[in-house]
Amino acid sequence: MSARIAASVLSADLGRLRDQVEQAVAGGAEWIHVDVMDGHFVPNLTFGAPLIRALRRMTDRPLDVHLMVRKPEHYIAEFAEAGATGFTFHPEATIHVQRQLAAVREQGMRAGLALNPASPISLIEEVVPDLDLVLVMSVNPGYGGQSYLPAATDKIRRIRALLDSRRSGAALAVDGGINLDTISEAWGAGADTFVAGTAVFGAADPAAAVRDLRRRCAVRV
Ligand code: DX5
Ligand code: ZN
Repeated sequence: MSARIAASVLSADLGRLRDQVEQAVAGGAEWIHVDVMDGHFVPNLTFGAPLIRALRRMTDRPLDVHLMVRKPEHYIAEFAEAGATGFTFHPEATIHVQRQLAAVREQGMRAGLALNPASPISLIEEVVPDLDLVLVMSVNPGYGGQSYLPAATDKIRRIRALLDSRRSGAALAVDGGINLDTISEAWGAGADTFVAGTAVFGAADPAAAVRDLRRRCAVRV
C-alpha cells in the first residue's frame, strides 16, 4: 500500500486555484481536501458548495470534503450535488451520527468521521461498519499551518488496530501539521492518507512537495 496525499486547498492561492490544483495532482496528490468551516464549530469561516462545484470542474480527482460545522446534515444533499466524493464530519456536531453516515452513503459519497485531539476513539466504535474514512485531527481544527500534536501518533495506532480487528476497509487519514518531518511517524503508526496544506501549497513547487511527502512513506517503519 502506498501513501495517499490529500492536498488541502485551505492553503492554496485561490487566485490561481486551477493552477495550484493541477500542480498538486501532477506531483501525485490523489485527493483534493476541502475544509468547510462555519464560524461556530470552529472560529474560522471558509468554503461551501460553490467552491466544491468549481473544483469539480477543475479536476477529476476525488474531492475529500471535511466539514467543521454544526449540523453537517444540512449539507449532505447539496454537497453531493456539487460533486463531493467524500463527506467527513465531526461526531460532536450532530445528534444522530449513524443516520447521517447512512445518508451520506445514500447520496453516493464516502462517509467519514473526524476526531479532534480531545475526542475519544469510543465516538466511532459503534459505527465502524458505517465508515469509509476516519480522520484523525493532529491539530485543533480551524486553521492551516499549525504544528502536529505528537499524541496523534498513538491514536492513529489504536484506530488502526480497531479498524483491522473489525476487518474495516476504511481509510485512515491524518490532518494537521503534516510535513516532511511528521509524515513518516503517522505512516509508521498506520495512517494511509495524509492531508497536507501548508507543506504542499506553501512550497515554491507544490508538485515536488507532494512527491517528497510520498517518498517519505516508501516503507513502513
Ligand atoms: C485544519 C484543517 C486542515 C488544514 C491542514 O483545521 O482541517 O485540513 O488544511 O493544514 P496544514 O497542512 O497547514 O496543517
Ligand atoms: Zn481538514
